[in-house]
Amino acid sequence: MGNGSESKVFVVGWPIDHSRSPIIHNYWIEQHGLKGSYERQACPPEDFERFLASMEGAGFIGGNVTIPHKEAAFRGVGWCDGTAQALGAVNTLWLDGGQICGSNTDGYGFLANLDDLAPGWSSVENLDRGALVIGAGGASRAVVHALVERGFKTVVIANRTLERAQQLAENFGPACLATGLADALDRLPAPAFVVNTTSLGMGKNVELPIDVSGLPEDTLVHDIVYTPLVTPLLGAARKSGLRTVDGLGMLLHQAVPGFERWFGIRPEVTAELRALVLAGTKDAP
Ligand code: ATR
Repeated sequence: MGNGSESKVFVVGWPIDHSRSPIIHNYWIEQHGLKGSYERQACPPEDFERFLASMEGAGFIGGNVTIPHKEAAFRGVGWCDGTAQALGAVNTLWLDGGQICGSNTDGYGFLANLDDLAPGWSSVENLDRGALVIGAGGASRAVVHALVERGFKTVVIANRTLERAQQLAENFGPACLATGLADALDRLPAPAFVVNTTSLGMGKNVELPIDVSGLPEDTLVHDIVYTPLVTPLLGAARKSGLRTVDGLGMLLHQAVPGFERWFGIRPEVTAELRALVLAGTKDAP
């Protein structure tokens, strides 16, 4: 942690050029007048084990792990917390007495963003009504775990490939039910909350994962995709008069615990930071 000498932190992935995490952490480093750096590290899968082993020698105090290394990071750490264990994936690393430790802050970021932008979204009444999660990949895992931890009584996981949804549902207990995409709203006709965790809506993929026109008027619709910021799902939900939350805040909030761990200061997610990341104007060297 910060002790006067420069604290070096990384984000490692493959590819890594697109990562906006340096904008976030370097903004906070500058804002708090810290001696530190946060830099991208491109690392192909076959080199990841070596990268972890060389982390301390290279002078890093910790870092973030992104696609495709989160599961390898889980296997490579000497210790990890309960959330990382439940997910089998690590996105935040730090050194403790020479031991590499890991956590997973994706679920925290997901919840903190909604708490920030849609207060009351997980009221007791909404926990009873249940949530619909579209997708059953790695991102969905973190989201489903977070929703169950928050206390949603029913979490329906709808996925193109039913078996993946079933596996996830079995993993996270009796609150979770698996279904195909077409049946999603038959299983839970009036969810308090709907979230897309698939790549549908990203880039050229403009397909809608579900038809939102029949949802109750107070359902909150969220997409963890943030490129574009208003995905086709969010656009359709808004057209139907539904409340929406975009996915950019999850990226911002998931960075908070790591920064606090490395630098000893709990940073804030501000409107200025959000605008900066959105514009991508201020980048890491
Ligand atoms: P991530 O770790 O980002 O979640 P992933 O593990 O590859 O990525 O999962 C991608 C998710 O998007 C899966 O739920 C996937 O559905 P399948 O399990 O059926 O593959 C979903 N997905 C991707 N492209 C899709 C498409 N064109 N239509 C429907 N679902 C799609």
